[in-house]
Order: sequence, then structure tokens, then C-alpha cells
Amino acid sequence: MRLTTVRSLLTGLAVGLIVLSLGGLALADPPPAPKVSTFAPAEDLENQVAEYIERLEKSVKSEEEYKDSESKLAKDANTLIVISLALGLHDKDNKYKAAAPAMMKAAQELVGVKDFDSAEKGVAAVKAAAASKAGGADKLQWKKAYSLGMLMKKVPLISTKLKRYVKGKRFKSKAEDTAGFTAVLAVIGQASLVDTHEVKNPDDMEKWYKFCAEMRDSAAAINAAIRAGDKDAADDAMKKLAENCDTCHEVFHPEEDK
Ligand code: HEC
Repeated sequence: MRLTTVRSLLTGLAVGLIVLSLGGLALADPPPAPKVSTFAPAEDLENQVAEYIERLEKSVKSEEEYKDSESKLAKDANTLIVISLALGLHDKDNKYKAAAPAMMKAAQELVGVKDFDSAEKGVAAVKAAAASKAGGADKLQWKKAYSLGMLMKKVPLISTKLKRYVKGKRFKSKAEDTAGFTAVLAVIGQASLVDTHEVKNPDDMEKWYKFCAEMRDSAAAINAAIRAGDKDAADDAMKKLAENCDTCHEVFHPEEDK
């Protein structure tokens, strides 16, 4: 074989490999996030910020209370990170847009505290951050800033309460709460999408993206139905969400499969 032929063969091979690996990368990249308003209304998330801060304050009311609710505090703080992120990224201006980066940082620090004094200070810091106007939200992105495991432990807690509250008379009387819960679940779906460490087999990457997007979109559909006062649509969307929990666990968390 002549040298030039060998060379062009090698070049061809190299180009082929580059194209292949670029193709692989394009496949592995997460799909772009839709506008936050399409899955989590800003007002619902704003209400939840107030809720979460109230819960955090309760958890540090006394040392005894803190000891009893240490893991609850961490889960709430961890969830507040993604709520803040969503409000910072939100396409609709909101009460916490300028505060979001500071809230995320304070909530991240609170997740890691190990004693009552630091927890008390940490909760005060979260509250102060929520009132700040430090800005910087333009630099935020959907990327890992929280513990996925802890978010996943929060999901069933929200979902259990949601199931109880979308029934009967409560469907209307608890609408503000359930709109908040579903907005948070939708945000958790979107936030989980960019943390792919649970994906052990690269071939499953597209499934992870799909299930996370489905969680976001089913929760958003329940939210829209609650806001429209449409109980039947909410029931349908609740079924879709329950299916979504199971299909994802079948692949990524088989132990949890019932
Ligand atoms: C995108 C995939 C995915 C979806 C959707 C999903 N989960 Fe999970 N879930 C996981 C993974 C992964 C874990 C394990 C996380 C860990 O242990 O770090 C988990 C863990 C859990 C656990 C165990 C938590 C614990 O205390 O150890 C429960 C309960 C749970 N999920 C309930 C739900 C419910 C309810 C839904 C639907 C509203 C849901 N999940 C949706 C992937 C998912």
C-alpha cells in the first residue's frame, strides 16, 4: 500500500472517530430546558419559598425540635435550593429573582450543618438571603447544585400529601397548597434531569432524560388542572405521575419497585 493511501485511510478513520464521538456527545447531552413558566408558575414557587422557610424555622425552634427533625431540615433546605434555582431562572419576574443565587448558597450551607447552633444561624441566613437583592440570577443554569438522593427522598413526602389534598372538597380548598406541591415536583423533575449519576449504563441516558421530563410534565399537567379547577384532568394527570414513578424505578431504582 502506498504511503499516501495509508495516510488518507488514517485521516478518514480519524474523521470518522471524531464524527462518532461528537454524535455520542450530542446524544448524551440533556435536552434543553423549557421555559420555567411552562411547568412551574412563579406564584406557586413563591408561596412554597414562604412555606419552606416557615418549616425550617420550626425545625430550629428549640434544640430538641432540631434533634427530632435534623433530616427533615436537610431535605427541606435541599429542596429550597432547587426552588430558588427555578425562581432565579424563571422567565417571569418574581419576588425572589434577585435573591435566588444568595438563597441557593445559604440553603446549600444549611444542608451540611451538623449542630443546633449552626442550624439556627443557617436558617437565619436563608431568611436574610430571601430578602436580599444581591442579583446574579443571569449566571444561573440548570446544573447540579443539590443532592439528588435527598431530592428523591423528598418526592414521596410531597406526593403523599398531594394525594391526600387533591380529593373531595380539598381539591378546591387546598388548591394553593397543591399547586405549590406540583410546581415543586415539576422543578424536581427538571433538576434531576441534569444529574445523571444514577445512570450506570450509558445506553440508559436517554431513558433518564425521558423519565425526568415526564415527571416534570405530569406534575405540570396536575398543576394546570388544579389552577383550572378541573378535577377530572387532575385525576388523569395524577395517574400519569404515578406511572412515571414506577417506570423510572423499574430501570433506575429497582429496590423501590412495588
Ligand atoms: C427519573 C427517575 C425517577 C422518578 C421519575 C421518580 N423516582 Fe423515586 N427514586 C429514583 C431513584 C434513582 C431513587 C434512589 C435515590 C437514592 O437512593 O439516592 C429513588 C428513590 C425513591 C424512594 C426511596 C427514598 C428513600 O427514602 O430511600 C421513594 C419512596 C421514591 N423514589 C418515590 C418516588 C415517587 C412517589 C415518585 C413519583 C412521584 C418518584 N419516586 C419518581 C428515581 C426516580
